[in-house]
Amino acid sequence: MPYLASPCCAASLKMAELGQFPRTESMDIQSGSLECLACKGRYPIVDGVPILVLESADSKVLKTRDSFAYEWSRYPGSLPEDQGVFLEETQLPAGEFKGKLVLDAGCGMGRYSVVALSLGAEVVALDLSESLRRLAAVAPDYPKLHVVQGDLLRPPFKKFLFDIAYSQGVLHHTADTRKAFKAVSALVKPGGYLSVWVYGKAGKFSEFSTNPLREDRGWVKRRRRLAWLVVALRHWVSDLVRFFTTRLPLRLTYALCWPLAALGAVPLLRYLTFSVHADFKVRVIENFDWISPPFQHHHTKEELGAWFEAAGFTPLKVLPHGLVPKPGLLGRRHG
Ligand SMILES: C[S@@+](CC[C@H](N)C(=O)[O-])C[C@H]1O[C@@H](n2cnc3c(N)ncnc32)[C@H](O)[C@@H]1O
Ligand SMILES: [Zn+2]
Repeated sequence: MPYLASPCCAASLKMAELGQFPRTESMDIQSGSLECLACKGRYPIVDGVPILVLESADSKVLKTRDSFAYEWSRYPGSLPEDQGVFLEETQLPAGEFKGKLVLDAGCGMGRYSVVALSLGAEVVALDLSESLRRLAAVAPDYPKLHVVQGDLLRPPFKKFLFDIAYSQGVLHHTADTRKAFKAVSALVKPGGYLSVWVYGKAGKFSEFSTNPLREDRGWVKRRRRLAWLVVALRHWVSDLVRFFTTRLPLRLTYALCWPLAALGAVPLLRYLTFSVHADFKVRVIENFDWISPPFQHHHTKEELGAWFEAAGFTPLKVLPHGLVPKPGLLGRRHG
């Protein structure tokens, strides 16, 4: 695993113990432990996944992590729309992935790692939570997939490693979105691509009024000030709901998502919920995704653009969206 680095010292790792060997040459080592060459810290490999995480005592970090493990273990699985959504959200052409080393930064259950693999990439899929166990379970079917448990605030990889890194709906769930962005962007090679989207907010009206909209969002274009007020109000209501739900036990929050998902099928009233997806089970999960994790930060496209520039990337494309802002950018690292 020459691409790995220790999360403690950002140093190289060596194999300290070898348990179960890989069954084929292209498969990752199944069990054993890795040792940091600088401080001798040990990290286990469990069922093919190196666990390169430092212990945290922060209750918000732990609950966010557990909330996502809970969520993704209940998600229905890959959906037919995954490839379309992935290409739309990353804004990368399908042909760009073939033969590239790609980082899925915050892979969840790995629905988009599987798409990148199908487009011919070698994929390193990283997540903090046990959600990645679903992807690890199918890793033996994908010789070009490597699953790593790690924290994006201390990513366990060498710098300038990846041809492409993408992070879809993840960085705002860390303790510090900007810091996580900086850490992920440092992993991209000169000339490589970085694609990120994070949760948006109404922001200043001057920023909101220049947000790129999807073609079908005509009324938002015509009534920008009203749309801005709706988004600000929605944000305020969401903060109020989350004040309570992020403090509840996960099972109770999950139970609350069932009536919300049922409401999600009722015309107009559906907009009072946090998911309008056509599939009931997906609506349950998407409501939970919104109301449960304690870390949920919101940003503007201007903030995200400034982060790209400061990290040495030229912004290439901005993601068009609906009423609710969804700052998403594709950038290329200066050569
Ligand atoms: C909303 S999910 C998105 C997952 C995936 N990108 C997708 O769209 O299917 C957010 C993911 O970020 C992960 N995450 C949160 N904080 C993280 C951190 N500090 N380091 C790595 N992953 C983190 C969570 O465990 C969760 O799986
Ligand atoms: Zn160390």
